[in-house]
Amino acid sequence: MALVPRVFLTADQIQKRVREMGDQISTDFPQGPIYLIAILKGAFMFLADLSRAIRTPSRVEFIGISSYGRGKTTSGQVKVTKDLDVSIEGHHVLIVEDIVDSGVTLTYLMNVLKQRRPKSLNIATLLDKPERRLRPVDVAYVGFKIPDEFVVGYGLDFAEDYRNLGDICVLHEEGQK
Ligand code: IMP
Ligand code: MG
Repeated sequence: MALVPRVFLTADQIQKRVREMGDQISTDFPQGPIYLIAILKGAFMFLADLSRAIRTPSRVEFIGISSYGRGKTTSGQVKVTKDLDVSIEGHHVLIVEDIVDSGVTLTYLMNVLKQRRPKSLNIATLLDKPERRLRPVDVAYVGFKIPDEFVVGYGLDFAEDYRNLGDICVLHEEGQK
């Protein structure tokens, strides 16, 4: 059956919230540089907007982590597939994530990065599905708390599709209310 995306958060709502998050982060970290570490691929669009909303001097880095296959649920197995190119020792680090679901990915990544002795280590996520949490994660900056629905767009995919949508949408089966 065909899947149709239905708008859940508009591009305008997202932009407004991301600017607020950028303001808060700029206030909390007046001294740079902040290393913004985006988790590939889902966080790429959020990173692009958040980095422009942060006034503190920042640097942009990427890390690749696999935990999901092509389905909608975590495989529970997490590993680094593309590591950072730089040392983060002694620097402020902000992990930039699209969505926190089970918390498995971020629990793993926080442990990996903590061992590299950053000056500070925090998480900014655009979306949070607290109902789905299996591992407790301390998330400093949350854009929107959302119910347990599978969402796509603004970087988020379903089997690599829909990342380029400007809105965040819930996928429904055609004909379903
Ligand atoms: P966690 O380890 O279960 O917290 O998984 C987080 C990752 O799962 C996110 O970075 C996303 O890549 C993916 N994910 C979780 N929920 C969704 C969703 O609703 N849509 C798209 N991807 C999701
Ligand atoms: Mg992801």
